[in-house]
Amino acid sequence: MDKLVIEGGCRLKGEVTVSGSKNSALPILAATLLTEHTCIIKDVPNLRDTNTMFKILRSLGKNVEFDKGVVTITHARCTECVADYKLVSTMRASFCVLGPLVGKYKKAKVSLPGGCVIGVRPVDLHLKGLKALNIDITIESGYVVAKARILKGAHIYLGGEYGSSVLATDNVMMAAVLSQGKTVIESAACEPEVADLAEFLIKMGAKIKGHGTPTIEIEGVRHLHGAEHKVIPDRIEAGTLVIAGLITQGDIVIKNVLRRHLGALIDKLEESGASFGREDTLIRVHCKRRLKPINVTTLPYPGFATDMQAQMVSLMCVTKGISVITEKIYPDRFMHVAELNRMGAHIQREGPHAIVEGAAHLSGAPVMASDLRASASLVLAGLVAKGITSVSRIYHLERGYENLESKLQKLGAKIWREKE
Ligand code: UD1
Repeated sequence: MDKLVIEGGCRLKGEVTVSGSKNSALPILAATLLTEHTCIIKDVPNLRDTNTMFKILRSLGKNVEFDKGVVTITHARCTECVADYKLVSTMRASFCVLGPLVGKYKKAKVSLPGGCVIGVRPVDLHLKGLKALNIDITIESGYVVAKARILKGAHIYLGGEYGSSVLATDNVMMAAVLSQGKTVIESAACEPEVADLAEFLIKMGAKIKGHGTPTIEIEGVRHLHGAEHKVIPDRIEAGTLVIAGLITQGDIVIKNVLRRHLGALIDKLEESGASFGREDTLIRVHCKRRLKPINVTTLPYPGFATDMQAQMVSLMCVTKGISVITEKIYPDRFMHVAELNRMGAHIQREGPHAIVEGAAHLSGAPVMASDLRASASLVLAGLVAKGITSVSRIYHLERGYENLESKLQKLGAKIWREKE
């Protein structure tokens, strides 16, 4: 296993290009199960998670070729429609093969993903939505077994205790495109990645309206054909790089972004004293001073993304004064707090809130990554800490950031990989 070692204190400078979105690519790859024709997906990041999805698709009868960000998927054989526990348990997003499998083949057996370090993460909304489409669902030996004779469109309310669900919206939408009649999903997730999936499905011949809003309308069709699609830029990677620029008081230009997807983050950072240009496809981060404290609450899109919470906490650790961050999507997603405190941060956790008293500086320490975004927050803290920080268990980081280490090196960071 490798660890990342960072010598903090360098101001980042230069240009960096954001990769395609992991969270867009994963359901789009799963959607290729809806057709036996060839699909070409571009700008797919080379990550542990996308490679896990390739394995799942191969196990489900697809040929998958990956070359320089372009994935070509062709149909190889009829599928048993079984997504194995070994693969689904390593990546929750694998669960989104359920909707397309049962939509296309009228049967599926997909392992329940289980909880993870950021919380319990149930799948009740996925199952509720699929049941409404006339799919019979049972749980057998840790697997969801789904069967249907005819999928029928329905009016489905998909809101849950914590708001809308991204992958439940994806799963239901993917099953509904091949259902008979009309489906309306209310309280649908509005995340750009859901809209990107809908755009891909439309290219395949699906009839979808309202994606990107809380009400999605789907008119079922009989068949879908192959399609070509380029995934949107990764807004979470872009946001992480924005914070890397700010935390090091650097001067960087971030390319391949859709600024409109980063509205809540930019708004909060501007409130904190940062300023950015007006372009939509690049962001210049130029900051020469410590920022002011702010209060942030994570919410479903277009609110502040929970996937940016940990990175924001790192920035708060070095702002002047007391900031409060409230986690409304995953109230237990605070594994990074104890590690950041080991680096000299002053963070107190109270239920779903973290109260952060900004320190004049952090100090490097050996720390341990617990999940994907927590790993990113530790790397960010390492960039500004005095001395050496080593982040172990970086396989978490490799799940979701393509070449982060070399991108940061190119910006002048002193960061390298060592064997643990
Ligand atoms: C997706 C993202 C993940 C992000 C999350 C929230 C992908 C591959 N992953 O995960 O990076 O952190 O959105 O923006 O896109 N919930 C239920 N019942 C359900 C499903 C979800 O109660 O059936 C709850 C969850 O526990 C959570 C909230 O709803 O509290 C939102 O979760 P959800 O949007 O479903 O997250 P994912 O789609 O799994």
